Amino acid sequence: MAQMLHRLLGHIKNVPLILKRMKLSHTKVSDWQVLYKTVYSALGLRDACRSLPQSIQLFRDIAQEFSDDLHHIASLIGKVVDFEGSLAENRFIVLPNIDPEIDEKKRRLMGLPSFLTEVAQKELENLDSRIPSCSVIYIPLIGFLLSIPRLPSMVETSDFEIEGLDFMFLSEEKLHYRSARTKELDALLGDLHCDIRDQETLLMHQLQCQVLARAAVLTRVLDLASRLDVLLALASAARDYGYSRPRYSPRLLGVRIQNGRHPLMELCARTFVPNSAECGGDKGRVKVITGPNSSGKSIYLKQVGLITFMALVGSFVPAEEAEIGAVDAIFTRIHSCESISLGLSTFMIDLNQVAKAVNNATEQSLVLIDEFGKGTNTVRGETEEELRREKWRRTKEQESEAEP
Ligand SMILES: Nc1ncnc2c1ncn2[C@@H]1O[C@H](COP(=O)(O)OP(=O)(O)O)[C@@H](O)[C@H]1O
Ligand SMILES: [Mg+2]
Repeated sequence: MAQMLHRLLGHIKNVPLILKRMKLSHTKVSDWQVLYKTVYSALGLRDACRSLPQSIQLFRDIAQEFSDDLHHIASLIGKVVDFEGSLAENRFIVLPNIDPEIDEKKRRLMGLPSFLTEVAQKELENLDSRIPSCSVIYIPLIGFLLSIPRLPSMVETSDFEIEGLDFMFLSEEKLHYRSARTKELDALLGDLHCDIRDQETLLMHQLQCQVLARAAVLTRVLDLASRLDVLLALASAARDYGYSRPRYSPRLLGVRIQNGRHPLMELCARTFVPNSAECGGDKGRVKVITGPNSSGKSIYLKQVGLITFMALVGSFVPAEEAEIGAVDAIFTRIHSCESISLGLSTFMIDLNQVAKAVNNATEQSLVLIDEFGKGTNTVRGETEEELRREKWRRTKEQESEAEP
């Protein structure tokens, strides 16, 4: 079941972007295909969710909210759009039997080559006997033209003139003319190509309006499908990597992690050594980790943050056991994104991150600081670190004094 849901979710694409293009009438051929697949997959999801326990809110929502509007959209697109033809010509093409007028024009266009050969043969009979062959061609927006090979005697532009024909242009050693007959054809058949395009564009516009009128259900599809996608991803990661269910203890100040792992490092390291972490309450609220280079301090710090974060977003965690208290925020000073556009030094970025933590952290916050002051000299860095801890201690004391 999970695999099937996963496969269906894979076909659900960025519908809001397509709807945006539809509003601007910039819909691409691929958009129609993507929308069609999305809508069909959404219907598949609905059917699958109907067979799953309805006590789970998300399954119930999908079962109920993926309405028959989706069926309507799918059948409209499926009935009208000729996907193969559209892809081949890279424009919107409608299937036969939608508009008899378009069908008739397309039939005429299809029969055009043999009809034009006949016309060309008749025209050749009226031409100078030195001209070996001629053909009638159709150029969209220009119309029908008589095409004659250039004879060796035709050197100057004045040599191109033929009585009874209007010279148009020379291209690839062929001379093109308008004759009385080609003018007749223009009047008779008109600009078939353009007419068909115009009519198909009109149909596309109508289809767009019908889809846009049902946009609400499509937006809902994306919202609910993305939730399901996230939950499925968390569930399969939990199963594949042996995560455990964390306990949430609102009364606990801090976190207790038994044999925790770094979710990414454990996948790369040949043997990963799990580590426990206990902070908050009687275990002390400030922990300082020291050790030689490359002894795993940063990984440890990150894994505590990640396990806490994963538990808070509703995921299982890479640990034997984890008890997570009411953590209201996680502040970190681990990674500095240096950028010339910020106009800040590494040290300044560090300071800003720590300032955010100092000014906003409450007693329920988790603050992780890795090598503060790396961007400045050792003495200054250490002093700053001392001052920060001191300020924190005092602020917290004042806060607790102020409390009744
Ligand atoms: N718990 C662990 N188990 C196995 N290997 C680890 C563990 N923690 C860290 N390592 C390895 O040690 C390397 C250095 O870790 P790191 O945390 O960057 O060290 P430090 O911050 O102490 O200099 C990591 O790249 C990883 O390969
Ligand atoms: Mg480190």
